[in-house]
Amino acid sequence: MASQNLQSVPAELSPEEQEREAAGQAYFDRIISEDSRIEPRDWMPAAYRKTLLRQISQHAHSEIIGMQPEANWITRAPSLKRKSILMAKVQDEAGHGLYLYSAAETLGQSRDQMMEDLIAGKARYSSIFNYPTISWADMGAIGWLVDGAAICNQVPLCRASYGPYGRAMVRICKEESFHQRQGFEILLELSNGTPAQKQMAQDAVNRWYAPSLMMFGPPDEDSPNSKQSMAWNIKRFSNDELRSRFVGMMVEQVRVLGLTLPDKDIRFNEETKKWEHGPLDWNEFKEVLAGRGPCNSQRIERRREAHENGAWVREAAVAYTRKQAQKENAA
Ligand SMILES: [Fe+2]
Ligand SMILES: [Fe+2]
Repeated sequence: MASQNLQSVPAELSPEEQEREAAGQAYFDRIISEDSRIEPRDWMPAAYRKTLLRQISQHAHSEIIGMQPEANWITRAPSLKRKSILMAKVQDEAGHGLYLYSAAETLGQSRDQMMEDLIAGKARYSSIFNYPTISWADMGAIGWLVDGAAICNQVPLCRASYGPYGRAMVRICKEESFHQRQGFEILLELSNGTPAQKQMAQDAVNRWYAPSLMMFGPPDEDSPNSKQSMAWNIKRFSNDELRSRFVGMMVEQVRVLGLTLPDKDIRFNEETKKWEHGPLDWNEFKEVLAGRGPCNSQRIERRREAHENGAWVREAAVAYTRKQAQKENAA
């Protein structure tokens, strides 16, 4: 595996620099082959750094943008208890974004730059958050399906070879399990309610099912970077493998909910021992990812407003830090 990562050392380096690069590469290869961890100050190939920066910053943006579809329902949650649970969940997502921006910063890009890219529409985030939340049952479907898919994706990332990312994921995954359970519980309550409530829950599951399956990314044959990410121990399982596991989990849980998944092609393949599902609309996925989903422009616009409205908080924090440093210097 490690030999795949060997890069030719650029010719313009001095002999000492070449030696340092070669030693760095050898150290990196050993760490990866031992399935151990790379830390921020360790030497790492430029492509490894770039891949991680892209992945972690996109993940951070997804957490922050993902606050919006649910924050939309805080004022309309059906009870004080539901409001406080939803508020706590949305706050958790903000926290996830912050852990992840911090992890991304250790790779050498400032949070300001990442935020600028996001609000300029240059950065990607999970396509799922560009769909509208049109009923209260969507809070249940998001918690159950979207946070459920996130858990499937993220539990293996707790073992990612980059230390700060793996450690951030451990805490995030604990909170995501709570999110999924509260979503499940919202759907269960609706499903056991009036026929209209049950129908509302079913409609929400019908709308969120396919987009949640697409959260795992394109099919393996269309995911050219996956192989390298797996060789670097960032990714542990392929997109299709994780998607299949997720379908298997949902098949069990939807029975308890008394609802159905809108996919008549779901089946367990005895030969491959994998769950299979019906076709997904990958053109829609590409359109949403390219910025042409139902809510893309609204999400970015809200993010920009929030960033501008929060400018005074950032300024105050900088002023406070400066004052503290002056005090320390004077002491
Ligand atoms: Fe999260
Ligand atoms: Fe979550």
